[in-house]
Amino acid sequence: MTDPAKVPSFTLYNGDKIPCIGMGTFGSDRVSSEEVAKAVSGGIKSGYRLFDCAACYGNEDKIGESFQEAFDAGTVKRNELFIMTKVWNDMHRKVSESCKKSISDLKCGYIDMLFIHWPFPNYHAPFCDVDSRNPDSKPFSVDEFTDTYHQIEELVDEGLVRHIGISNMTIHKLEAVLGKLRIPPSACESEIHPTFQQRELCDYLKAHDILPIGYMPLGSPRRPERDILPDDVNDMQTAQLRQIAEDHGCHPAIICIKWALQKGHLPIPFSIHNYEANLEAALTEKLTDEEMSIIDELECGNRLVKGQVFLWPEASDWHDLWDEA
Ligand SMILES: NC(=O)c1ccc[n+]([C@@H]2O[C@H](COP(=O)([O-])OP(=O)(O)OC[C@H]3O[C@@H](n4cnc5c(N)ncnc54)[C@H](OP(=O)(O)O)[C@@H]3O)[C@@H](O)[C@H]2O)c1
Repeated sequence: MTDPAKVPSFTLYNGDKIPCIGMGTFGSDRVSSEEVAKAVSGGIKSGYRLFDCAACYGNEDKIGESFQEAFDAGTVKRNELFIMTKVWNDMHRKVSESCKKSISDLKCGYIDMLFIHWPFPNYHAPFCDVDSRNPDSKPFSVDEFTDTYHQIEELVDEGLVRHIGISNMTIHKLEAVLGKLRIPPSACESEIHPTFQQRELCDYLKAHDILPIGYMPLGSPRRPERDILPDDVNDMQTAQLRQIAEDHGCHPAIICIKWALQKGHLPIPFSIHNYEANLEAALTEKLTDEEMSIIDELECGNRLVKGQVFLWPEASDWHDLWDEA
């Protein structure tokens, strides 16, 4: 058990605090809702106070039972938790409905940070394969995005949402929308791990007072099949991370978490077996400057979530999704 009061925090643009590490809850296509909910219960007891949920993970009702049990047992009060969830792509025109469903499923009364999961409304069926395309998919639209965002701003006005998050953005898209938002985004969730560091994006976010949250911080070795390509690098199996982990007497996952924190982004590792150790990583000894430099050199553009299933018919390939020439 880690004392939650000892877990460092990041400060959001308005002065609110957020724990420096959270628990991911995407069971991929491999871990059942019940197992994820059990990890959430265990996570609360272990000292986690930040949980990264999403409507499309299909497990918010079970996770809500874990929250309710913890509230009923007096393990934690609602205002001690920081609960994040996301509006899925098929609900961009019905954000209030999506938010209220998440609040009801998660049994949490309000959402601490509500994200737009992807910056376009392109929908794909759950568990679809990598080549499936929805003929209704469209390229990014500033007007559609800002309309979705404004719906969340209204939920902030109503008191149902505390902070607004964005996710899977690029600098190009941020440049196009940031000036059009009444309430600034507090955080941006992006894929960030040692072999895919997104330095330019992180610098841009920090310069705009938007906290970078790193998803797949360990390189997601058990991500869905559709996101696994033969050339993908497995972060935790690189010789450098294995050596640094050996030197510290820990698993490479712990080194990935320490690296993220020392870089100034908030990691949200998923785990049903090792979550206690992951939280402790935020409190134990730091990596040296030399170790940080060795990990910095692992950057190799190893994007794991290419997002092919969100492509619109006339797109050439997944690079279009990320505004890459
Ligand atoms: N915004 C978005 O579009 C988006 C996209 C993807 C993910 N996410 C969020 O980011 C979270 C994290 O990403 P992810 O779940 O794909 O991948 P991840 O956190 O990079 O990796 C999770 C995997 O690492 C293993 N692991 C965790 N801690 C470990 C440890 N200390 N030692 C050994 N193995 C360890 C887990 O296995 P065990 O369970 O056996 O420990 C699990 O298989 C998601 O759960 C989700 O909340 C957001």
